[in-house]
Amino acid sequence: MSAPWWQSAVVYQIYPRSFADADHDGVGDLQGIRARLDHLAWLGVDAIWLSPFYRSPMADFGYDVSDYCDVDPLFGTLADFDALVADAHERDIKVIVDWVPNHTSDQHPWFQDARSSRQAEKRDWYVWREPTADGAPPNNWIQTWTEDGPTWTLDPATDQWYLHLFLPEQPDLNWRNPEVVAAMHDVLRFWLDRGVDGFRMDVLHALGKDPDLVDDDPAMLPIPHSALNHHESTYEIVRGLRSVLEEYDGDRMMVGEVFLLDTALVASYYDGGQGLHLAFNFPPLFTPWDAGLWRYRIDEVVREIEPQGWPSWVLSNHDQPRHRTRYGSEARARAAAVLLLGLRGTPFLYAGEELGLEDAAVPEDRIVDPGGRDGCRAPIPWDAAADHGWGVEDPWLPWPPDATTRNVASLVADEGSIVHLYRELLAERKGSPALQVGEQVLLDAPDGVLAWDRTDGHDARRVLVNFTDDAVPVADLADGWIVAVTSDGRPLVDQLGPDQAVVLRRA
Ligand code: NOJ
Repeated sequence: MSAPWWQSAVVYQIYPRSFADADHDGVGDLQGIRARLDHLAWLGVDAIWLSPFYRSPMADFGYDVSDYCDVDPLFGTLADFDALVADAHERDIKVIVDWVPNHTSDQHPWFQDARSSRQAEKRDWYVWREPTADGAPPNNWIQTWTEDGPTWTLDPATDQWYLHLFLPEQPDLNWRNPEVVAAMHDVLRFWLDRGVDGFRMDVLHALGKDPDLVDDDPAMLPIPHSALNHHESTYEIVRGLRSVLEEYDGDRMMVGEVFLLDTALVASYYDGGQGLHLAFNFPPLFTPWDAGLWRYRIDEVVREIEPQGWPSWVLSNHDQPRHRTRYGSEARARAAAVLLLGLRGTPFLYAGEELGLEDAAVPEDRIVDPGGRDGCRAPIPWDAAADHGWGVEDPWLPWPPDATTRNVASLVADEGSIVHLYRELLAERKGSPALQVGEQVLLDAPDGVLAWDRTDGHDARRVLVNFTDDAVPVADLADGWIVAVTSDGRPLVDQLGPDQAVVLRRA
């Protein structure tokens, strides 16, 4: 098997604020992650992706960076980061860091300089427009997380508008300026030199903008511009990023967040092998628990992504309600794990999904996120004690539901729990080139069931997923096969149970 590591890997996303807290201040940190690496090795993940831990005023909890090359004191130090990378690598776990290229914090020295005068050295590092006669913003673009707020703020000091697809505290960089490109390439090199294995690149599709900043089609509003921006200049930007990664040996990887809900467009950012190694494709994440709808999404990935590059699959992250919450039951969450880890492509897990966590119910007076995403960011409960391993009983967000029983220690002690299902699935993948990188053929199956084969040479696995609440006969599909992993511990006797999924090996 000669595929690059990021094709066979299972990647595990860590939201550092919420993962583990070594200094007991109620906010997770790098030493906390480091202390839990053995658990991740036990689980069997191949790589971790760390959401931002850089210096930040935290208007968007780290996606507003004020220094790309330092660790925020809340999370630790650069020495802590180096120690984390060393310890992860010792366990054969790769480290991917988040890189936030579309915007900086308004507190970043670059923006502080840029806004100081129209003649400032870095004025053109951001996107400025003259005020209009009627006082209206320069175009009709809608700011993320608002119904109708503009992506523009009029800066009184110099009487011009600046662009921000997200919060006013997140001004957009001007990627047409070669100095910005060079500075951001150096940020990549800073982390590559420290040994990171790759980057998750935030809102990558937003970097290249229409030079005339033309209005969005009014029929698309109120979709925020951050979910609509698509301009051909981005391809060249991405090729430039790839060439920086290629200055280094060892298969450094970039996975782009392409938040465009159009799989053909997502595929275009692979750019025939010159662009992204992987792109997040979100339509499946928004797909309900329904066999027909999922079949459509899988076919779409095969049709659009496969000719361009290697697919990726994700069900949960720090921006959306967890799939356990969306799908409504643990049985479905378990079957979804088989789906996610059985499809051809690189799976991305979001910390806590292996525990079957639901979103926390966040009371109004505890809401902190401008985008309303607190529920899926609840802290990971590590054990059954009142502080759940955090040293404080009341961390920055409330605990997820049932933390007294649904926590790492309790579930690890219970061999029938969902965390053991994830561990088995990861082990099964690791032992099977077919599951990791093999071909995929969708099979005819009864209504409500999806079935497919994965094959690599003599190695083969068959995956069956029942999306219905009823038992479904599958004797024909299971003939000649034995169960390798079952989502709910039940054997497979001629029929799949309600919301049951299995991975089969040849008998
Ligand atoms: C996408 C990130 O996943 C999200 O958390 C963030 O708020 C926006 N990009 C802006 O950086």
